[in-house]
Amino acid sequence: MITNENGNYTGKVAFVTGAANGIGRATALAFAREGANVVVADILEQGNQETARMIEDLGGRAIAVRCDVTQAEDVKAALAKTVEAFGRLDFAFNNAGIEPRKPAPNAEYEEEEWNRIIDTNLRSVFLCMKHELPLILKQGGGAIINTSSGAGIIAAADVTVHAQTELRRAARACGTPEA
Ligand SMILES: NC(=O)c1ccc[n+]([C@@H]2O[C@H](COP(=O)([O-])OP(=O)(O)OC[C@H]3O[C@@H](n4cnc5c(N)ncnc54)[C@H](O)[C@@H]3O)[C@@H](O)[C@H]2O)c1
Repeated sequence: MITNENGNYTGKVAFVTGAANGIGRATALAFAREGANVVVADILEQGNQETARMIEDLGGRAIAVRCDVTQAEDVKAALAKTVEAFGRLDFAFNNAGIEPRKPAPNAEYEEEEWNRIIDTNLRSVFLCMKHELPLILKQGGGAIINTSSGAGIIAAADVTVHAQTELRRAARACGTPEA
């Protein structure tokens, strides 16, 4: 049963990335409790389906969409499915993100690992916002939230690339075009 049947978000639609686990799943459930229809998007199909089922068990409406947020075509397709299923987009939570496989100082960082983290933690936020904004503006407004991390503002050895992506995500979340 939805806990807040007169939720503020009744009739609204939320798109949540990284929704198969953790913060994304908890936020998807919170949107549903407030009455929103939720699109859960993740590369992990099983966890994604579980999140959608949990929302339905609450009495809410959700669809699970497989989406790799580093791929523009996936992001566009997931947002197209959002509009196809629920007719609009009001909120986006760009939350999918990864940690380094093995923290290391800059000089020891593999280029491949750098690219993987930049693509997942930073480029994805640009891609998602690029395709979410026109849909949200169509409704006359809404909200976009991008997950960042304390790692972006507190210096620590061996988390260089992670810290840089988090700082830039934080800047983008605050509306700054570039950090
Ligand atoms: N948990 C923390 O302490 C913490 C602290 C600071 C920042 N964060 C950030 O918060 C966000 C969520 O963290 P969490 O702890 O819930 O992590 P989590 O690992 O539990 O969940 C992250 C989700 O993102 C998904 N994901 C990864 N790459 C993806 C891709 N390319 N496309 C689509 N989905 C993808 C994963 O499959 C996973 O379901 C992340 O961006 C993380 O960097 C977390």
